[in-house]
Amino acid sequence: MRIDLNRTSDVPLYRQLHASLARSIRGGELGPGTKLPSVRAMSRELGISLITVVQAYDALAAEGLVHASAGRGTFVGCHPAACSPVDDADGDAGDQAGADEWLASLPVYLTAPRIFEMESLLKFARRPDVIYLASGTPDATLFPVRAIGRIWHRAMVVEDPRFLQYGSPRGDANLRAWIAGRCGASGIQARADDVLITSGVQQAIDLVARTFVGPGDYVLVESPTFLTALDIFGARGAKLVGVPVDSRGIRIDMVATLVERFRPRMLYTIPTAQNPTGSTMVEDRRRRLADLARRHNMLILEDDSCSEFTYEGDAPPAVKAFDSGGHVIFVKGFSKTVVPGLRVGGIVAHSSVMSRLAESKSVADRFASTLIQRTLWRYLSSRQYDRDLAMARSVYRRRRDAMLRALETHMPAEVTWTRPDAGFNLWVNLPRSISPTEAFEGGMKEGVACGPGHLFIPHVPPPAGVRLSFADKPEHVIAEGVRRLATAIKRIQEQGSGRLRESEFVTTV
Ligand SMILES: Cc1ncc(COP(=O)(O)O)c(C=O)c1O
Repeated sequence: MRIDLNRTSDVPLYRQLHASLARSIRGGELGPGTKLPSVRAMSRELGISLITVVQAYDALAAEGLVHASAGRGTFVGCHPAACSPVDDADGDAGDQAGADEWLASLPVYLTAPRIFEMESLLKFARRPDVIYLASGTPDATLFPVRAIGRIWHRAMVVEDPRFLQYGSPRGDANLRAWIAGRCGASGIQARADDVLITSGVQQAIDLVARTFVGPGDYVLVESPTFLTALDIFGARGAKLVGVPVDSRGIRIDMVATLVERFRPRMLYTIPTAQNPTGSTMVEDRRRRLADLARRHNMLILEDDSCSEFTYEGDAPPAVKAFDSGGHVIFVKGFSKTVVPGLRVGGIVAHSSVMSRLAESKSVADRFASTLIQRTLWRYLSSRQYDRDLAMARSVYRRRRDAMLRALETHMPAEVTWTRPDAGFNLWVNLPRSISPTEAFEGGMKEGVACGPGHLFIPHVPPPAGVRLSFADKPEHVIAEGVRRLATAIKRIQEQGSGRLRESEFVTTV
């Protein structure tokens, strides 16, 4: 079987491998029952990553061309609908091979390499014997489902149905007014007209990126940061420059230097409950960041997904609170504090920025669901919201403490970690000799899944680490998960196999 991969092509390697194997299967070169080389053997043979092979095999399986047999391997399985007869007199096999080639050659204008890689890696981690500390999700048992159900029902049977008509791209006026009012707690003066409702913070980041960031623009990001934001800016063709984060937030001294050097269009920051480190930027750095933006005409995209979950005292004022010229675009999320499934977020911005974002929202999906906006507004305006927040905050604080205690008890001396002031995650700094994928794979062997750190970093160089999330697990499970990860790290150290494999890191600059 001959497989030619073109490494200079725009077509991703996994799609080339998939197309080549699909051709061989449909053409009969690989007959039913043939065992494909193992993922590891194929990756070694072709000099490509394990993930690339897994993605290609997955795509073949999704089409019914192969099937995986647990513990035995991957076999050509000729699904009658997907697999034409070898000696097809009508030439259908040849036609399909041509179509496969054409499909594989379609240009990809939107790529999401990090989130895709994360999902591929974690696909095998959702098993009962694996403790899943890999995703920073809230605890579903704390969701206010009864309250939301009641409000939803009332909206449908009691309210004037005209609220379900086509709505404004800016969103429900009541919800916008609520968000504007609540901004006061973060030191932001806003009116309902300064607010636009989005489908989650993720769409807010996407709208801002597609409105203001173009190919070749420099974007400064915290390193590590929220991996989907890296995908979004990457999809715009932006050049990403990482700025390290310490326990006091983004390294503002480095921002000052990098702003001079790259003249970035934008800086993306998560100043409170930074994902994945959990750190919170101190007030002085927030003030200086806003000042740098004004002096250098740089936009700041400030992501506030869950500052409500600050565990010691109150979060400092938002960066936007120090914005005198309209350079800061503030984004508020409700996925962590209410439920992710409603998909609501809000953007607060200066009027001239806002009008352009409203046009983008209108082009993207016209407006957010009016039923969901109405429901969320009524819940947020009820007294129950603050009570639920306080309860969830104390649960999450105890879980954070359980994770910190377990790290202290079990981790070897060479391992350090951040101490989150807020949010759902912390970052474990690995010894230099251990790569994030080695830690991830070692953890999986011990029965724990962590977030492989290279996916949160825009480019080399390390230091590398892994993300651990604590919000959705009971304390004893968190403790056991950390113990397993510590065992894995010690084992890798003992075997002395930890080598830094630079090729595992994604370079975008
Ligand atoms: C920092 C950060 N921003 C944005 C998001 C996405 O939020 P949403 O669900 O509102 O799109 C997340 C979700 O994990 C996040 O951690």
